[in-house]
Amino acid sequence: MKKVYVGMSVDLFHHGHLNIINEAKKLGKVIVGLLTDEAIVSYKPLPLLTYEQRKLIIENIKGVDEVVPQEALDYVANLRRIKPDYVVHGDDWKMGVQKETRQRVIEVLKEWGGQLVEPKYTEGISSTQLVGALTERGITPSKRMKVLKRLIHVKPIVRILEAHSGITGLIVEKTRIVKNSEMREFDGIWLSSLTVCTSKGKPDTEVVDFTSRFQTIEEILEITTKPIIVDGDTGGEIEHFRFRVRTLERLGISAVIIEDKIGIKRNSLFGTSVTQHQDSIEHFCRKIKEGKRSLITNDFLIIARIESLILGNGMEDAITRAKAYIAAGSDGIMIHSKEKDGREIMEFCSRYKSFENKVPLVIAPSTFAHITEDEFKEFGANIVIYGNHLLRSAYPAMVKTAESILENKCCSKASDQYCMPISEILTLIPEAY
Ligand code: SPV
Ligand code: MG
Repeated sequence: MKKVYVGMSVDLFHHGHLNIINEAKKLGKVIVGLLTDEAIVSYKPLPLLTYEQRKLIIENIKGVDEVVPQEALDYVANLRRIKPDYVVHGDDWKMGVQKETRQRVIEVLKEWGGQLVEPKYTEGISSTQLVGALTERGITPSKRMKVLKRLIHVKPIVRILEAHSGITGLIVEKTRIVKNSEMREFDGIWLSSLTVCTSKGKPDTEVVDFTSRFQTIEEILEITTKPIIVDGDTGGEIEHFRFRVRTLERLGISAVIIEDKIGIKRNSLFGTSVTQHQDSIEHFCRKIKEGKRSLITNDFLIIARIESLILGNGMEDAITRAKAYIAAGSDGIMIHSKEKDGREIMEFCSRYKSFENKVPLVIAPSTFAHITEDEFKEFGANIVIYGNHLLRSAYPAMVKTAESILENKCCSKASDQYCMPISEILTLIPEAY
């Protein structure tokens, strides 16, 4: 019996998939190479259904004889192992992000005289469309909360961008590009204290209280579906922190990051140029433990942020604290630094790698901005947070516009040079949700 290989993601099974399987079945024994979550996120967003859920569906479909994991978008490893007589795929992949994958399939099949069969793509239906339509409808708090943990599990590095308002939340939610056959987007939203406070014209000293912060969180929750990490500042008093995590968990936030400072907090990027104090290990561990104890689910993460390098207290202190915070039950560690060359971050990461007991590691390259995501992956970081970039880019554009109007006593030049067309702003937000 001839062997027929069909690569699939099967995130929401539909009649288009069935058509491919029926066509494949006419040629022989159907082996489905089911893309793992890791393979899918290498070129498009995380599937709605997990690998196990998708496997359960596809192995129960009539016509499917065997299901094997396909661990990369590239078919070559599985094809060389299985040496199928045929590969069957809808003809839609001749264009778009899978174009190169197709070419490699054609090349590798030549090695043993295999053949690519491409039935006509079923018009009017695609999983991407179905998933898109579901996402448009919104997401429930508990579903949203779980996504971050899944992303950490399947992505080599989780990419997070700052938002501080509805409109910036939408930018993080919707911005996408295709580069090198890979569809790139942000995995989630960072609710930065710095940019929320700055956008309100207030300093980043916890003066904007959590009643107000929750209002911003609600605004962003309302119009996005991606997981959210909240900058929890110092977490406040232990007694208050317990209530705060409960509220964040109830809202469907995925994680809070609290920094080990005490008293009036100043932004970390001031470093030692202002007076700020680090909490004791014992007191901060108690805050972590109390926070963890008050949670209802296992899906919400409390991440401890270490300020030892920021405050000049040294690498040894940072390492000691990381171990203590993990032992206290912290679900992640964020190591922060304001050094431009990134050397102390690299040193921390390399020492962290040898920890016996590790939790996901978070990095925010505000100052060591030249380090790439691929390099962070190498260092062993799990989450990269671009902490302030939307506000930092918007502000200079707004100032230029204001100055141009003053200079010309007329808004024509500002409109032409710095503003989007009226027609675009009117339709940026659709009226019907
Ligand atoms: C924030 O975004 O508010 C942060 C990160 O805490 S940083 O500003 O780099 O300290
Ligand atoms: Mg902050």
